This record gives sequence, structure tokens and C-alpha cells, in this order.
Amino acid sequence: MPYTANDNRYNEMVYNRCGRSGIKLPAISLGMWHNYGGQDVLENARAITRAAFDAGITHFDLANNYGPPYGSAEESFGHIMKKDFAPYRDELLISSKAGYDMWPGPYGDWGSKKYLVASLDQSLRRMGLEYVDIFYHHRPDPNTPLEETMAALDLIVRQGKALYVGLSNYREAEAREATAILKRLGTPCLIHQASYSILDRWIEGGLQGAMREEGVGIIGFVPLAQGVLTNKYLNGIPADSRAAGHSRFLNKDSIPESKLAIVRQLNDLAASRGQSLAQMALAWVLREQGGIESALIGASKVSQIEENVRALDNLTFTDEELRLIDRISAGDGAKA
Ligand SMILES: NC(=O)c1ccc[n+]([C@@H]2O[C@H](COP(=O)([O-])OP(=O)(O)OC[C@H]3O[C@@H](n4cnc5c(N)ncnc54)[C@H](OP(=O)(O)O)[C@@H]3O)[C@@H](O)[C@H]2O)c1
Repeated sequence: MPYTANDNRYNEMVYNRCGRSGIKLPAISLGMWHNYGGQDVLENARAITRAAFDAGITHFDLANNYGPPYGSAEESFGHIMKKDFAPYRDELLISSKAGYDMWPGPYGDWGSKKYLVASLDQSLRRMGLEYVDIFYHHRPDPNTPLEETMAALDLIVRQGKALYVGLSNYREAEAREATAILKRLGTPCLIHQASYSILDRWIEGGLQGAMREEGVGIIGFVPLAQGVLTNKYLNGIPADSRAAGHSRFLNKDSIPESKLAIVRQLNDLAASRGQSLAQMALAWVLREQGGIESALIGASKVSQIEENVRALDNLTFTDEELRLIDRISAGDGAKA
């Protein structure tokens, strides 16, 4: 069936300005790390992408190595772009990245100009795009001079292959240095992509404030702790969950009883707010008191997109609720 986007797609999504820039990000963005690989069902990925755009999610996030196999998520997305989204290209903010292991030999990993430029060329071919909206350096490289990596990002923008650049997984000091170099080069850093959730708050230790000062937006990835911050694992590991699959990053050992005890208390609090736990976890990331611009989710089903965007119905937390979430997530819920 040919796809026609929902006419009402811009009615309910919230759009937040990304740092000091002209770009607005949807409060909820969709990442393609999982469920878009060569081993996944393409028609499911296609349905998820359609549901997301229909709900006003205008930002899709990829990386060279998303799959498996590496590159296959970009290929799947390229297919979906061609079939469904070609007429909507100018309504979309599409990102990709390089920085992790991608191809064999000395030029397919880390942060050299050689790697970044070649990798983006490959990504563009896989996605069938002329340019990406945002190109990220995926992780800091301790051995390549930061000037070289930032010069590569600047070059890519000047070549017209990306409109904006971003950093991912950079700690505060290196992020400050990188943004200063980019500013000097005349290609300001648009965005920092960092992990952030009720269970993972490292950015609050300095990075968040630093990026605010520099005018760089923050998008928080893995806001649902890969599904742990939903009701999915409360009664065991469902067969169709990520933890039951072959993920290197989430399995039964990463969800010990001590973590589930925290999740259960958070689930009760979410219910008292009239939200599912997934909705409360996303609302917390986006909360009015010092949240961030966008929560970068993943989804394995259309119904998850539909549930998760409803987080926007209530982004307000009382101080008492926030304190309670702090105590529960610190494992101190019994005294809450
Ligand atoms: N820059 C980086 O280094 C980096 C690293 C990691 C990720 N990322 C980005 O962040 C994106 C999101 O990562 P993520 O997928 O791990 O994020 P997440 O939103 O924390 O987890 C998504 C997973 O949670 C489950 N889920 C989502 N909504 C649910 C709901 N309402 N009820 C029950 N389960 C639900 C699904 O897993 P099931 O399969 O179990 O249903 C879904 O695939 C990635 O795609 C990528 O773009 C970036």
C-alpha cells in the first residue's frame, strides 16, 4: 500500500529548540539501532517508521554500524525512504554516525579524517540520500588529535554531505574542547547524543551544564534502559523481548532482582500518575525541571510508538515525585 502521511501529524508532538540553532527536535525521536537490521522483518520496521512519522516524530537516528550486520539498518532505512518517505525528505531530520568498529584494517574505526569521510560516503549510498541532516562522531578517540576529527566534521559540512554535526559519548572536558574547535572552524556543534534515563544520569555531573553554556542541544539515548524502564520485565523475560534475543548489551544478567525491585516501585509511581512506566520514564527525561531536548527511543512494535508518544500528555512532576524517583532509583525506595 502506498503511504500517505497522517494529515494531523504535527498536532500533538512537542518540538524543542536544539541548543542555539535553527533546528527544532521532536521531544521523542526514533533510533534504528535495533529492529532495522538484516535479520529483522523489514515490513515491521517500515510500519514502525510510518507510525512514528504519523505521530510527529521527524527525527530518525542511525549509525554506520547499526544492524546486524553492520550497515544493514541504513540499507533498510534507505529502502523505507525510497518506498514511503521520498516525498517527505524535507520534513525529516536524519542522522548517522561513525566512530566505532566498521570495516577491517586501520581505517575503519575511531576518529581519523580518512575513516569519517569514507564512512559517511558509504552511509549516504546505503540510505540513498544526498546528505544527512546531522553527522556525529560516535565516540571520542584517545589517539587521533581532536583537531583532525573536528576538521573532518567541518569538511563534511563544507562538502554538503551533512548540514550539522554532533558529538556522542564525549565527556565534559573533551566535549568542551571539541565544541571550541568546531566554533573556531566555523561549523558549530549542533548536538550532543548521550545516554540518559532515570537509571543513568551521568550527564548531570557536568556535561549537561557545559553543553547548555556552549549552546549545544542534548538528545538522550536509551531513555527506557533498553526496555527495562517499562512494564515488560516485571514478570520475567518475554520471548519477544530484546533481553531474550541475542543482544550483547541486554540479557537476563543485566536485569537482576535488585534492579527489578526498583522498576516495580517506579511502576507503582507511574500508575499513581496515570501513566505507564514507559511514559513516566520518557516524561522524566523531558521534564520541565531541567530536562533535555529529545528522548531518543527504540521500538520493536508499532504499539510501543503509540504508547510512548502519549508520555507528552503529562511532562509535569511535583518536587515530591522527583524526590521519590531519586530515592527509588538510588535503591533507597524502602525509606521513600
Ligand atoms: N550514540 C550512541 O552511542 C548510542 C548507543 C545506543 C543507542 N543509541 C541510540 O538510541 C536509540 C534508542 O536505543 P534503545 O532502542 O536501546 O532505546 P530504549 O528506548 O531505551 O529501548 C527501546 C526498546 O525498549 C522496548 N520498548 C520500547 N517501548 C516500549 C514500551 N512502551 N513497552 C515495552 N517495551 C518497550 C523495545 O524493546 P523490545 O525489543 O524488548 O520490545 C525497544 O526496542 C538507538 O536506536 C540509537 O539511535 C545511541
